[in-house]
Amino acid sequence: MNVLRTDRLLLRRFTPEDVDNLTELDSDPAVTRYLTGGRTTPRETVETEILPRHLAYRGPVGRWAAHDETGAFIGWFALDPRDDHTNVELGYRLRAAAWGRGYATEGSRALVDAGFRDLGVLRVFAETMAVNLGSRRVMEKTGLRYLRTFHLEWDDPIPGTEHGEVEYELLRADWAAQAGA
Ligand SMILES: CC(C)(COP(=O)(O)OP(=O)(O)OC[C@H]1O[C@@H](n2cnc3c(N)ncnc32)[C@H](O)[C@@H]1OP(=O)(O)O)[C@@H](O)C(=O)NCCC(=O)NCCS
Repeated sequence: MNVLRTDRLLLRRFTPEDVDNLTELDSDPAVTRYLTGGRTTPRETVETEILPRHLAYRGPVGRWAAHDETGAFIGWFALDPRDDHTNVELGYRLRAAAWGRGYATEGSRALVDAGFRDLGVLRVFAETMAVNLGSRRVMEKTGLRYLRTFHLEWDDPIPGTEHGEVEYELLRADWAAQAGA
């Protein structure tokens, strides 16, 4: 599976040509607020660390660059394998200009459905800062359920860290029940 289409989005695999797209995405402090506290990512780091990471996740699940109906790059979605390809972590990062239109939910649902239906996934989970209410809402609207709040030790904590991180999950049996409902 190299392309995934939804009503409004096209998800595709990353290529080495995505340096500019990713640099622009991570240059907005609003986008990185709950990831690095608003610190942006230099182009060189995109080239040497970020893009290689996106390119490395090329298994049946993995990382997906997203485009809207106009063809514009709007960000990315992830189903990162943990331990093996049956337990995957959902992630997403969209340009601020694309927020508030349901894109994150639309892309996440499509990937989660493909994971359970076609790719042998048994469990999807997602984590974010407890204070990242928009991301938590996307998890809920994608069908994931709140599992736990946990606290991590950070050398350089960002505002909101004191409230901890949250984990949501969706098991294949619950997805099937939702899909059949
Ligand atoms: C989180 C993010 C992916 C959401 O993208 P999006 O396309 O706007 O999401 P959707 O439109 O599908 O849904 C967002 C939902 O969250 C709600 N929401 C957004 N911000 C909110 C906030 N501050 N408080 C409460 N709810 C909020 C929206 O109202 C919407 O819910 P609704 O449909 O019930 O009204 C986007 O803001 C983003 O990329 N942020 C930066 C990167 C990031 O934080 N990624 C997650 C890291 S784990």
